[in-house]
Amino acid sequence: MSVRHFLTLLDLSPDELRQLITRASELRQWQHQGRIFEPLKNKVLAMVFEKSSTRTRVSFETGMAQLGGHAIFLSPRDTQFGRGEPIEDSARVLSRMADAVMIRTFEHEKVERFAEFSRSPVINALTDRYHPCQLLADMQTWFEHRGDISGATVAFIGDGNNMCHSYINAARQFGFRLRIATPGLYKPDASIVAAAGECVTLFEDPLEAASGADLVVTDVWASMGQEEEQSVRTKIFSAFQVNSELMAQANKDALFMHCLPAHRGEEVTAEVIDGPASVVWDEAENRLHAQKALLEFLLT
Ligand code: CP
Ligand code: NVA
Repeated sequence: MSVRHFLTLLDLSPDELRQLITRASELRQWQHQGRIFEPLKNKVLAMVFEKSSTRTRVSFETGMAQLGGHAIFLSPRDTQFGRGEPIEDSARVLSRMADAVMIRTFEHEKVERFAEFSRSPVINALTDRYHPCQLLADMQTWFEHRGDISGATVAFIGDGNNMCHSYINAARQFGFRLRIATPGLYKPDASIVAAAGECVTLFEDPLEAASGADLVVTDVWASMGQEEEQSVRTKIFSAFQVNSELMAQANKDALFMHCLPAHRGEEVTAEVIDGPASVVWDEAENRLHAQKALLEFLLT
């Protein structure tokens, strides 16, 4: 059987994704009970980070340790990645040693190219285009708080970025309605939207998008690599803040999620992210459990 990769949510079938979420919740329970489960003994995950990370690094490294395996952190500063070794060569070499390779980088094409030449499963840990691992945690968190998400209404407010694109793929795979509000020039990629068909509706009015939502999601206005646009974006996105007024448009028991790191006072107010609708700490913790389920799925 050919090797499976996880570059976007579309790499797993809807059934596989649901099974993975169920498994993630089980692994969460086992972890909380202190149960030892080490199916990945002697397995190694190589982790390539070309961008910063707190949650992703710690969750993958902790997850591998808990599953009985090992993780190696590789940064461009002190590997040949930063010195221009061809991606194809790095893929061939790393995948002959490591049982799986996790990559966080800029261009999505880079992880696709890496996967093409890799013997081991490749996991996308964020590119400029997608952040599928975060969506596993977000879906797990929804399922744990509210049950099945199929038929629910989700509002994504802010930038049409990697998180937004992964929400679009999640809407397709899990069968929810996604209402996206962005400024006109910051819409999600048209081809990703088109592929989702009727699951997705675009708005320029954030209050309209939030209307009737069961889940409200936002993300930073300037992603990694866009630091120089921060001040311009802060002005353009100012009407797209998730605050109490916006949450009041959503359903009464609506939840709030944010992949973190968050900027209180910019894309979300402290009142919302630290308030009763927010499940961001469960969401962050679930990165660990969801990725353990993913590693188990890809490696056993
Ligand atoms: N949400 C997320 O991916 O966080 P990190 O950038 O800290 O890994
Ligand atoms: N959109 C953000 C997500 C960070 C986890 C970024 O790419 O920086």
